[in-house]
Amino acid sequence: MHHADVMMNEANNGRFYCVYRVSLWAHAVNCLDRHVHTCPERVALIWERDEPGSEFKVTYRQLLEMTCRLGNLLRRHGVKRGDCVTIYMPSCPLAVASMLACARIGAAHNVVFAGFSAEALAERIRDAQSSTVITVNQGVRGGKLTELKKTVDTAVQSCPTVQQVFVAMRTENPVAMTAKDVAMEEVREQKENQTLIKILMPTAEDRKLYFNKRKQLSLFGCGFITMLWLLHVISDNAQEMQKEDVVCEPAAMDSEDVLFLLYTSGSTGKPKGLVHTQAGYLLYAALTHRYVFSYHDGDVFGCVADIGWITGHSYSVYGPLANGGTSVLFESTPIYPDPGRYWEMVQRLKINQFYGAPTAIRLLLKYGNQWVHKYDRSTLKTLGSVGEPINTEAWEWYHTVVGDGRCPVVDTWWQTETGGICITPRPSNPDAEIVPGMAMRPFFGIKPALMDTEGEVLTSNHTSGALCIAQPWPGMARTIHNNHQRFIETYCQPYPGYFFTGDGAYRSKEGYYQITGRLDDVINVSGHRIGTAEIEDVVNQCSQVAESAVIGYSHNIKGEGVYAFVVLKKGMDVEEMDLSRQLNDLVSKKIAKYACPDCIQVNSRLPKTRSGKIMRRVLRKVVEQDLNGLGDLSTLDDPAAVQEIIEVIVNII
Ligand code: PRX
Repeated sequence: MHHADVMMNEANNGRFYCVYRVSLWAHAVNCLDRHVHTCPERVALIWERDEPGSEFKVTYRQLLEMTCRLGNLLRRHGVKRGDCVTIYMPSCPLAVASMLACARIGAAHNVVFAGFSAEALAERIRDAQSSTVITVNQGVRGGKLTELKKTVDTAVQSCPTVQQVFVAMRTENPVAMTAKDVAMEEVREQKENQTLIKILMPTAEDRKLYFNKRKQLSLFGCGFITMLWLLHVISDNAQEMQKEDVVCEPAAMDSEDVLFLLYTSGSTGKPKGLVHTQAGYLLYAALTHRYVFSYHDGDVFGCVADIGWITGHSYSVYGPLANGGTSVLFESTPIYPDPGRYWEMVQRLKINQFYGAPTAIRLLLKYGNQWVHKYDRSTLKTLGSVGEPINTEAWEWYHTVVGDGRCPVVDTWWQTETGGICITPRPSNPDAEIVPGMAMRPFFGIKPALMDTEGEVLTSNHTSGALCIAQPWPGMARTIHNNHQRFIETYCQPYPGYFFTGDGAYRSKEGYYQITGRLDDVINVSGHRIGTAEIEDVVNQCSQVAESAVIGYSHNIKGEGVYAFVVLKKGMDVEEMDLSRQLNDLVSKKIAKYACPDCIQVNSRLPKTRSGKIMRRVLRKVVEQDLNGLGDLSTLDDPAAVQEIIEVIVNII
């Protein structure tokens, strides 16, 4: 600790709070070097690859070495403190090393979920102004290959800031490289004392590809020179890269310096890059990881979230590594190769804490108990749930079948914005009651408040309101990248003096919290957050569509499904199947597969207020078949529009 001063956070609307500003060694030191001094051979990461039974273990010493080589490589390629590096990779040790390498040299990382499309990736790269991207040739999930490098190629075409793309090899299949690309090679066989990542010459296949390319290039009359130049660039890189040292001087950072950006959806179309900072975030991730899950030294922690989401950041990477833990990185799906995948993995890796999403629990429940009973789960101590409300049936199944009734289930409520878990049961307090389906109590330092519609604090129990947090906590996001005004307007202005979460909650007679869902136009599809406005923007780009309204509706596996009401342009007559195919293609291309509509309903008009605002509240009630709850329709411009929608829905359902 070098110095301390007091900071006022304007985001809190004039309510001052103190952050002791300290200089500290970059996160890579807190997550790696510290542990290498005391237990270098402890396993830091277990990479549970898509192919079952082929896990890959990385010790703290190896992870430090990997991180340092990458840190040096990035530095040598001009990445500086304060720059932002975009990482588009599936969960794997190299992705973790990339995050830590950025942290080590003081650059911010911006991990983009590898399921996002080229356009969604490009939007995030542009907003973050990244000049460097790290990716892999291909992803592997559920036995299927995904062309991640090709997606990056498409994305960077519309990202003028990008100067270099580092490419690691996840599969044996070579990919076409461009002059911007820098080849890295991952050693896939683990041997004693072997460096895990060698940054070296392009593989033999890559070279073959260049030579093959020569033929095409010469067609344009400039083949030979271009090829020579390409080979020069590549071999130059390769020679230089082999020199990378395993020692990389860590940057000393201020506690309030940026650690990472992570894009998430809000109620408008444009995703927002939430900014998390150095000290508070790591402290909060580490503390919640230890106390919420009762994590003890030597435990194997299995968080199955992808590193592209905040859950992966806080509970696959930063929390476990700051605590010197062993963290599982899960690359596959819950049903590959069969619905026993999670529990077979629990048995094989001897997982002690398992942390997953209700959507997967609901899916597995449907496949039956035999897939769980087949495997030994006696190592399990705590079961966690995150990302969306967990219904009682799923909670009970998780508790009684998966946990044999002996493992506490922690339903953890939090958000990208909060950095770590905020409301949760805490089994480290053995006397504390846990009510199924409730997030229960605030974590240390969290002061929840419920607000009524007038903006007043609800002080009594057995009441529902808008969930706010009454005082800052270490893990809170500090701003939205390049848009501090949006941060203030979204989180601080709705209830001045409080942080507004966007969720509603119920507080029981006993004072326990239950999250009731979003109050804004954000929905949660299979635990993935998406703004309905984002989907509408894309649906409206379809040449046949005049306008649309997208809402979430209750879906028995996904939690929420996407329901799109569509009005076609005059004179358009499209077949239902064709429209559905077109919209699915468009949404997959512009956002991601998970955002595709589950239901599409064509109407001649949408219910609107006289001022032209679409009444989504009414649409939600109609889809829920709560016709008595339609509320006041007197402000509607054309009440017959609702009637038409009701009639079509009845036909669909
Ligand atoms: O609506 C809440 C829901 O997920 C939202 C946050 O999404 P995201 O930023 O993607 O982070 C997900 C992982 C932390 C919240 O506003 N949510 C999260 N956890 C729960 C939840 N809803 C109910 N119960 C939860 N345990």
